[in-house]
Amino acid sequence: MTVAKGLEGVVALTSKISSIIDGVLTYRGIDIDELADHANFEEVTFLLWNGRLPSRSELDELKKQLGAHAALPESVLSLLKSYPKDIHPMAALRTAVSALALYDPEADDNSLEGNRRKAIHLTAQLPTVVAALYRIRKGLEPVAPRPEYGVAQNFVYMLHGKEPDEVAVKALDKALILHADHELNASTFAARVTTATLSDMYSAVTTAIGTLKGPLHGGANEQVMKMLEEIGSVDRVDEVIRRKLDNKEKIMGFGHRVYKEGDPRAKHLREMSRQLAEQTGDRKWFEISAKIHEVVESMKGLKPNVDFYSASTYHYLGIPRELFTPIFAMSRMTGWTAHILEQYADNRLIRPRAEYVGPVNQSYVPIENR
Ligand code: ACO
Repeated sequence: MTVAKGLEGVVALTSKISSIIDGVLTYRGIDIDELADHANFEEVTFLLWNGRLPSRSELDELKKQLGAHAALPESVLSLLKSYPKDIHPMAALRTAVSALALYDPEADDNSLEGNRRKAIHLTAQLPTVVAALYRIRKGLEPVAPRPEYGVAQNFVYMLHGKEPDEVAVKALDKALILHADHELNASTFAARVTTATLSDMYSAVTTAIGTLKGPLHGGANEQVMKMLEEIGSVDRVDEVIRRKLDNKEKIMGFGHRVYKEGDPRAKHLREMSRQLAEQTGDRKWFEISAKIHEVVESMKGLKPNVDFYSASTYHYLGIPRELFTPIFAMSRMTGWTAHILEQYADNRLIRPRAEYVGPVNQSYVPIENR
């Protein structure tokens, strides 16, 4: 047996959903750069689920479905209100998705139609859960979704309880596109492992949320914002980053298992952060980020990943940092569910081996002789 620690370089399955080839990311063969510049999140959702872009009427129908299913069952809202107020929103989200299954009488319907229906419901409901969690933690009443709004617009509306600003909605929509899928990343792989046992979609998505939560994966964006706040001014960047690197600490938002020449999504988020810095007149967070980027790249040769500039971007959009990873989950829901559908369509149990390196030839010793 040869062990690939962290499964590095292992090709575990075939997929038609997204690809990373020579540092270029595509969704269903379309370059992410084109999608980020021209598409909207609902179009990308259709693309990931169906393998092609929607016609106008198909897009309208998907938007209608997402709008129609965004509201939460009253029992789930009550449950969200009963959570302790100081838990992390990703822990709350994980439990909320698991709870949604309890109120879906067809949660275990694993037919293609059943799973497509669940994919729509989960994609529609997650933003409502995230916004409600935020408001409940702040002692505010959750705001009901508006069926006529798109996903990004509805989320900003439900978060702040007022008509969303167009710039914020456009920026969030683009961020959602950029986070929607990413080949066999850790949370998607985890979702596929659960699916491959023929468990249900809610279980697979709950697995994925638990995996995304970790700071080496989706949790990094929140950690980036903590670091920006800790540094606080551009003139402290050099000293703090050097100290962290000398102490062998990882700089959150840098490095990637697959991209060694840079994450193609990062440039879009950098540009969004720069533009928002100009528009808001608050250049500090972009400037600290750009300086960290310069220092980390020159000292370690590491480039920013999708999480690095998303932190300052979300901050400029008025989104509190504990919601950064839940927003990632809102977007990645489309990729997870696309992969779950693909796994069901051609399933085989995912069960690798481990090389045993523990003691051998041991005997049981009765407790009185130990
Ligand atoms: N800061 C400092 N050093 C780093 C960083 C970093 N962010 N990333 C990698 N390195 C160093 C490691 O210390 C290691 O150095 P060594 O060989 O001297 O020990 C070397 O680069 C290789 O790093 P690994 O951790 O082995 O790389 P791996 O492919 O396993 O991990 C990962 C990739 C987890 C993304 C890593 O780069 C990391 O921890 N980054 C910070 C967390 C982060 O931003 N995660 C988000 C990733 S994108 C996403 O999931 C959405």
